[in-house]
Amino acid sequence: MNEYILLLLQSLWLILPAYVANPVPVVAGGKAPVDFGRKFSDGRPILGPGKTWKGCAAGITAGTLVACIQILVGEHYGLSSQYGFVEMSVTLGVLLSTGAIVGDLVESFFKRRIGFKRGQNLFLADQLDFLIGALLFASLEVKISIPVLIVLFVLTPTIHRLANIFAYKRGLKSVPW
Ligand code: CTP
Ligand code: MG
Repeated sequence: MNEYILLLLQSLWLILPAYVANPVPVVAGGKAPVDFGRKFSDGRPILGPGKTWKGCAAGITAGTLVACIQILVGEHYGLSSQYGFVEMSVTLGVLLSTGAIVGDLVESFFKRRIGFKRGQNLFLADQLDFLIGALLFASLEVKISIPVLIVLFVLTPTIHRLANIFAYKRGLKSVPW
């Protein structure tokens, strides 16, 4: 197989649980906000009503389920031994999904601190917050190569943007980012 295509597939395989965990809250968000509606010392919301417990739980659950499917598929096709794919595990699935959700929460926290309203787009931060969170958490469990990192940082904003335009057109999101 062409080495660039292989690198692309290896990268997508690693990040898949995070790619699933990140958008699921948009369709499975609840009411109870993570910050319980409380304000930070600057008088602004800590996170705001867009970050809910149900959304976080749904995202982490969905991402972990995807990792479980990857464990089965990976074993069946010998993806690690034959193609050098990361050996998916439940732990790695939980880390990637939780990291994605936490990355989004952290970014939301900083958006509120600089006075951005809920849903207001902070260039590239909205596209990369969950990726950075997922990779940091995952690095506790696996080594991630530089080429894989490069692929993911280039690819993710593009995929994220296209997916959000789609979600906006379908009426799932109020803004196209
Ligand atoms: N959502 C959720 N729980 C999360 C993340 C998202 O319930 N942890 C749901 C909310 O219904 C939210 C929607 O998904 O309104 C869109 O998410 P996002 O665009 O990330 O949130 P915003 O409301 O735009 O918040 P922020 O400005 O803080 O990024
Ligand atoms: Mg965000």
